[in-house]
Amino acid sequence: MPASALMNVMMTAARKAGRSLSRDFGEVEQLQVSVKGPANFVSAADHRAEDIIYKELLKARPGYGFLMEERGLVEGVDKTHRWIVDPLDGTTNFLHSIPLFTISIALEREGQLVAGLIYNPISDELYTAEKGKGAFLNDRRRLRVAARRNLNDTVVATGIPHRGRPGHKLFRRELTATMEHVAGVRRTGSAALDLAWTAAGRFDAFWERNLKPWDMAAGIVMVREAGGLVSDLSGADQMLENGHILATNGTLAKELLPVIQSAQDTAV
Ligand code: IPD
Ligand code: CA
Ligand code: CA
Ligand code: CA
Repeated sequence: MPASALMNVMMTAARKAGRSLSRDFGEVEQLQVSVKGPANFVSAADHRAEDIIYKELLKARPGYGFLMEERGLVEGVDKTHRWIVDPLDGTTNFLHSIPLFTISIALEREGQLVAGLIYNPISDELYTAEKGKGAFLNDRRRLRVAARRNLNDTVVATGIPHRGRPGHKLFRRELTATMEHVAGVRRTGSAALDLAWTAAGRFDAFWERNLKPWDMAAGIVMVREAGGLVSDLSGADQMLENGHILATNGTLAKELLPVIQSAQDTAV
């Protein structure tokens, strides 16, 4: 399927930033790294990739606003459009030369997520989705969430809030509860990649707490356009507001949500 003008803009920005990340990958000694908070790092590579994406998107769509991980909020003249960008999702992996990290770009129109792109420049896997038009891998293969209906057969991805991060203890209980019901649990270290792989049917489900809009926005469009269901951990559509997310094929949410929620009622 030929890419739309909008998707071409997003792909140009992502590929250019991807080349920058690929150049910096494995060169940790040369990169300036700072600590933003507990287990939260940022490097010159994050900033370089973000600058490229910012300039490319601004050039192609001058009035649009931005919400970017490192720059924060940038108001645009056009109040109806906003890019939501994570220039490097999986910084910890990146700094350890683990080739699992992504660029995540989403577009919001009048408060609705309408397009998403997730790109791993190392595997050269580029995931794209537009509202009502489906989700694709490398412009060719249509994405479809996994069809599994039995929780016992599933492989479920998650993110671990490490020491000092909010939800650390609650997560341990959620993980213990989930492990009793599924065939496998995985953690890639990039929430955007987790969502892309859920859209692609590699993972049956993904849940995580306390994410930021830039970790999830593109992935939400991707999973929805691959036929999946995305909610927060109470089953509502407030992921971007509260940061908690569950993505499944829909059927599995009925089984998995009560399991995750059971951890909230259990004493430490
Ligand atoms: C992180 C990744 C990770 C998730 C963290 C995020 P960053 O984003 O998405 O998978 O578990 O909560 O902060 O900081 O590498 O862009
Ligand atoms: Ca970060
Ligand atoms: Ca992120
Ligand atoms: Ca990031």
